Amino acid sequence: MPVTIEPLGPHHERRAFTCGQPALDIWFRERAGQDEKRNLARVFVATDDQGIAGFYSLSTYTLSLSDLPTDLARKLPRYEALPAALVGRLARAERVRRQGVGELLIADALRRTLSAAQSVAVYAILVDSKDERGSAFYKRFGFQPFPSRPSRLFLLAETAAKALRRLG
Ligand SMILES: CC(C)(COP(=O)(O)OP(=O)(O)OC[C@H]1O[C@@H](n2cnc3c(N)ncnc32)[C@H](O)[C@@H]1OP(=O)(O)O)[C@@H](O)C(=O)NCCC(=O)NCCS
Repeated sequence: MPVTIEPLGPHHERRAFTCGQPALDIWFRERAGQDEKRNLARVFVATDDQGIAGFYSLSTYTLSLSDLPTDLARKLPRYEALPAALVGRLARAERVRRQGVGELLIADALRRTLSAAQSVAVYAILVDSKDERGSAFYKRFGFQPFPSRPSRLFLLAETAAKALRRLG
């Protein structure tokens, strides 16, 4: 079943979407369009022949040196803010569980971010995980938790390029 990923549009029927995490469902059904209009997030939607198979959101973000593990922070200049991208929300529909849609979504988010990073520098890509399963999923792609906030994980842009090459 081919899955395509495209920007959120008015033709996407979001009302019945369910991923198993109510907070993510509510955001996607009720807030995603508003966040798009207000330039707070770009939202990308995976679709197959039965409708919406998943989504993710992407925004710019800033990190401070003190967020990073000391071995990484030591290698950087003492800038006040470091440029980052945030995959704020990501979920596949429950009906496509165990079909690899999560991987398609994160690969697309990384690819899109690295493409944008040719024009606007991105030091790291951040994700928020809802639970241990989510964290385990992101760690498979090389994301590592922030020391002070384990539910938020990061991947250096240079490592993301390698992760994508592995995914093919
Ligand atoms: C986190 C998430 C995106 C991961 O997506 P996913 O890798 O496609 O995985 P699924 O949840 O659909 O399925 C997980 C299981 O399917 C397996 N699986 C994934 N892709 C597979 C494939 N192509 N073939 C066979 N099995 C596969 C996984 O290994 C995992 O197996 P396990 O239960 O034995 O550990 C997804 O679980 C999700 O959307 N959850 C709800 C929302 C959420 O928590 N989002 C993350 C925080 S923002």
